[in-house]
Amino acid sequence: MNSCVVGLQWGDEGKGKVVDILAEHSDIVVRYGGGANAGHTVVVGGEKFALHILPSGSVRPGKTCVIANAVVVDPEVLINEIQTLGRKGISLDGRLLVSENAHVVLDYHKQEDRLREESLGKNKIGTTIRGIGPCYADKVGRSYAVRVGDLRDLEGLKGRIQNIVEYKNRLFGALYRAEPLSADVIYAKCVCYGETLGPFIADTTEFLHSSIAGGKSILFEGAQGSLLDIDHGTFPFVTSSNSSPLGMPSGSGVPAKMVERFIGVAKAYSTRVGGGPFPTEQDNEIGQYIRDRGNEYGTTTGRPRRCGWFDAVAVSYSVAIGAIDSIALMHLDTLTGLKELKVCKGYRIDGKEVTFFPADAARLGKAEPIYETLGGWDEDITGVRDFGALPVNAQDYVCRLEELTKTPITMIGVGPERTEIIER
Ligand code: GDP
Ligand code: IMO
Ligand code: MG
Repeated sequence: MNSCVVGLQWGDEGKGKVVDILAEHSDIVVRYGGGANAGHTVVVGGEKFALHILPSGSVRPGKTCVIANAVVVDPEVLINEIQTLGRKGISLDGRLLVSENAHVVLDYHKQEDRLREESLGKNKIGTTIRGIGPCYADKVGRSYAVRVGDLRDLEGLKGRIQNIVEYKNRLFGALYRAEPLSADVIYAKCVCYGETLGPFIADTTEFLHSSIAGGKSILFEGAQGSLLDIDHGTFPFVTSSNSSPLGMPSGSGVPAKMVERFIGVAKAYSTRVGGGPFPTEQDNEIGQYIRDRGNEYGTTTGRPRRCGWFDAVAVSYSVAIGAIDSIALMHLDTLTGLKELKVCKGYRIDGKEVTFFPADAARLGKAEPIYETLGGWDEDITGVRDFGALPVNAQDYVCRLEELTKTPITMIGVGPERTEIIER
């Protein structure tokens, strides 16, 4: 059985934890999109792993990890992550494959991301400054792209890097008066990247298809969330890749038809980092309560996450575009202690009631949420492992979200630890 785990909101839903749990019964875990803008947390026996580019299955020794074609790979972050896990006694040797067709994030991508955001002032997107947008732009533009496979051909790469850096320096100098970057320094880094990553570079599409033919089970790990999808999210406040499940086939080379289960991860409330409309945002003491209890600070940038009520319109949209089979609802424990809970089940836009999510920042920015109010609970639920043992109001809350999203909730997170989960 092949499965795919994806975020149904604006990222940080708890995908890392769900992937870690499901990886126990999978042979191969695949990242198929995004880059080091992601930050996926796995907590095992009190030890916390924050993964940006390696699949979350990497913390389970023996699992094969794949970084597929549509990932934009920052070799510095990848090498650092391999070494950090190595120091903890977890080796990736012989069980990591990085696609030769994946694109490489280099210093000038991160420089451009930062310069552009700075120049936009209050109109900035609020990116992670990990060079994601500029690297995907170079990929689509083709002429100035560097792929992971190019790191094996250092002679050819030397001239390429020279040309690219010369072009970027002229561009950034004219647009932003930026200090020029050194092509020699970037090339020297590429030599190191090639030496360290060489043994991992492979044709991952061939590997995945031969693994499926050989009966192996594959777990696809989405990054970001469906509402940040470049084509289907809240444009322009999105990331630069197809971060909804629609990106899984193109990103990995494995058709969606070969994946039996799409599992959507959602928080029991909503969060968002960076700019963009967020209809149910609670920029008040309720949002702060959720932020404090849920430790809602970015895994990649440390920024405080914006917090708000669960938005069933938004999640139902993600369920629809992703043909989601079941939901993993995380952070139910974070809502403990709130007297009442609100759930958004429609919007009012220009005086009209809307129930289909408008994936456009301008229209969504005008949406006034229509709420339904449910009762809260005070009991500590972190030790609960049985749905029936949850306070009645917590059970009712979960059942109501199932009704509103028309999707079964089969996993419920009650804490960050691998074991803090209710399976139904
Ligand atoms: P991801 O990007 O979707 O993998 O999510 P992040 O790792 O960025 O953010 C999720 C945060 O919530 C991490 O700190 C997790 O350890 C934590 N977490 C995951 N599930 C739960 C849960 O059910 N309850 C609580 N309290 N924390 C959780
Ligand atoms: P995971 O995989 C939350 C957001 C950024 C910004 C927008 C564009 O951990 O869920 P980018 O750097 O991609 O150009 O930024 O997307 N963003 C995320 N938000 N979780 C993520 O990943 C994110 N990756 C990007 O905050 O608003
Ligand atoms: Mg995250």
